[in-house]
Amino acid sequence: MKLALHGASGRMGLSITRLAQHVPDLEIVGAATSSADPLLGRDLGELAGLGTLGVVTSPDLASSLLGADVVIDFSTASAVASLAQLAARQGIAIVCGTSNLDAAAKRALDKASEVVPVLQSGNMSLGVQVLAEAVEHALRRLGLGYDVEIVELHHRKKIDAPSGTAARLVEAVKKVRPTVRELRGRDGEVGARTDDELGVFGVRGGDVIGDHTVYLLGDGERLELTHRASNRDLFAHGALRAAQFLAGKPPGRYAIADVLG
Ligand SMILES: NC(=O)c1ccc[n+]([C@@H]2O[C@H](COP(=O)([O-])OP(=O)(O)OC[C@H]3O[C@@H](n4cnc5c(N)ncnc54)[C@H](OP(=O)(O)O)[C@@H]3O)[C@@H](O)[C@H]2O)c1
Repeated sequence: MKLALHGASGRMGLSITRLAQHVPDLEIVGAATSSADPLLGRDLGELAGLGTLGVVTSPDLASSLLGADVVIDFSTASAVASLAQLAARQGIAIVCGTSNLDAAAKRALDKASEVVPVLQSGNMSLGVQVLAEAVEHALRRLGLGYDVEIVELHHRKKIDAPSGTAARLVEAVKKVRPTVRELRGRDGEVGARTDDELGVFGVRGGDVIGDHTVYLLGDGERLELTHRASNRDLFAHGALRAAQFLAGKPPGRYAIADVLG
C-alpha cells in the first residue's frame, strides 16, 4: 500500500511515520504540510527520528498525493475540504482524523465518498471503539436498573472537558438509553440520583495520557469498563489499520467499527 500523509510533520503525522515502518508492504510516498510550516522541505524520516526516508515535506498537495492509494489526514479543519476534493479527483482513499470539522469539510468528505472510500473519525482508537461497543452490549443485556456514570482522567495540561472520548462514550450510552440526561458534576443538595441521569466527571492531574471508566452500578454489583491509553500511538495505530482496511474498498463512508469487522 502506498500512503500519503496530510499534516505530515505534525505530532500525529510523525507518530504514523514511525509506526508505518513496522507495517509490511506499506510505503510512504508523500508528505503534505502547510506552506507556513517551519518544517517544510525536510525529510519526513529525519523529522520522525528514523533517518532519511527520501520523502520531503511539501506544500504541494497534488504532487504529494501522486501515486498514493490512501491518504491519512491529521491536519487542521480548514484544510480538509481541499484535501477531500483533490483526493477524490485523484482516486485516493481518505482516512480523516482531523477534529472539529466544519460544515464545508463534512460536505466535501460526503462528496468525495461518492467516488472514493472515506473513513472519518474523531477518535481513531480501536480500543475506545471496542469499549463503546462493550458499553452498548452491557446496557442492552442488563436492561434498566443499572445506573451509568462516566469518569475520565487526564493530565493537568488538558484544557477542555469532558474529553472527546467521554463524548463518544456518552453517545454509546444514548444509543441504548436515548432519554438519559447528561450531568457534568454534582454539587450541593442535588437530591437522590434519578434514573435518567448520566454523570460525566473529569479528573485532572499529573501526566495521565487518558483513562476512561464507564460504571454500571446495580444493586449488589457493579461493572467497571475501563480503557487506559499508555502512549499517544493508539490513534496512529488505529489510523494505519483504517488505511489498510480502506485500500481497495468501493466508494462510500466507513467507520472505525467497520475496520474491526
Ligand atoms: N481522530 C483522532 O483520533 C485524533 C487523534 C489525535 C489528534 N487528532 C486531531 O488531528 C489533528 C492534528 O493533530 P496533531 O496533534 O497532529 O496536530 P499538530 O501537531 O498541530 O499537526 C497538524 C499538522 O498539520 C499541518 N497543517 C496545517 N495546515 C495545513 C494545511 N493547510 N495543509 C496541510 N497540513 C497542514 C500543521 O502545519 P503547521 O504547523 O504549519 O500549522 C501541522 O504540521 C487535530 O485536529 C487533532 O485534534 C485526532
